[in-house]
Amino acid sequence: MSSMVKDETAPSARPRLPGMPVHVGVIMDGNGRWAARRGLPRIEGHRRGVEALRETVRAAIGFGLSYLTVYSFSMENWNRPVEEVADLMGLLKRFIRDDLNDLDKSGVKVKVIGARDNLKADIRALLEEAENLTKANTRLTLIVAFNYGSRQEIAAAARSLAQQAAAGLIEASDIDETLLARHLDTAGIPDPDLIIRTSGEQRLSNFLMWQAAYSEFVFLPMHWPDFDRQAFSAALAEFSARERRFGGVTGQYRNGKLLAGVTKT
Ligand code: IPE
Ligand code: IPE
Ligand code: MG
Repeated sequence: MSSMVKDETAPSARPRLPGMPVHVGVIMDGNGRWAARRGLPRIEGHRRGVEALRETVRAAIGFGLSYLTVYSFSMENWNRPVEEVADLMGLLKRFIRDDLNDLDKSGVKVKVIGARDNLKADIRALLEEAENLTKANTRLTLIVAFNYGSRQEIAAAARSLAQQAAAGLIEASDIDETLLARHLDTAGIPDPDLIIRTSGEQRLSNFLMWQAAYSEFVFLPMHWPDFDRQAFSAALAEFSARERRFGGVTGQYRNGKLLAGVTKT
C-alpha cells in the first residue's frame, strides 16, 4: 500500500545537503525595466518573467530545496495602472491553467499566501484548485505570495489573537513569537534561509518581514526575466559561503542548527 511506503522525498526524510538552504524566497523584480530596455511593453517583461519562474521551479527541484517562496504580486501592486493589474491577474490565471498539471506531476505542492477576500471569484477558485490538487505532493513546496503584504499578514495575526483573547480562549500573556508565527499565512513553514532579489533594488517591499529576521540576502543586478539556473546556483554558492550566527558567536551554528555540545553560558 502506498501509505505503508516510507516517503523518501518528504522534507524531513531528506538528508540536508551541507551549506544548502531548506527554504529560498525570491523577489522577482525588474520585469518592467527588462521590457523598457528593449522597447517592449511592460507585459512582455511579465510574460518573460513567467518563463524565468518556470526555470526557477525546475532548478529548485534539481537543487533539492524543500521550499521556494516567490513574490508574484504585493498588496501595494494594486496601485499600478489598472491595465497592468489586469495583465498580471491574467498571467497568474494562465500560469495556473498551463502549468498546474506539470507542477503536480513533478511532485510540487502549491501553497498560496496573501489575502483572498478582495480577489475575484475565478482567481480564488484557481488558487484553491492548485492547492487542493497538489496537497499530497512532497518534493518541493512552492509558496506563491500573491496579493501578499507582510504588514497586513502580521496585523491579521494580531487581530485573530485579540479576538481569541476577547473570547477568553487565550490569555494575553500566552502571546509570544511562537504563537504569533502560528497565526501567519506561513504557519508550519520554516523561515527562509535565503532571500534573493533581482533588479538591483535592495529592499524587502513588504515581503516576509517577520520570517526574514535571520535570512541571508543576495541582491542581483540582473532583471527577473534574465534569472536562470546558473544565477540561482551562484546565489546558493554565495549563501553557502556565509556564516549565520543567529546572535551567537562564530562557530556555534552549522547549517542553521546549533551545534551539539555547545552550551549557553
Ligand atoms: C516585478 O517586476 C513584477 C511585479 C512586481 C508584479 P516589476 O513590474 O516591478 O518591474 P520593474 O521593477 O518596474 O522594472
Ligand atoms: C516587489 O516589487 C513585489 C514583487 C516583486 C511582486 P515592486 O516592484 O512592487 O517593489 P518596489 O515598488 O520597487 O519596492
Ligand atoms: Mg519592481
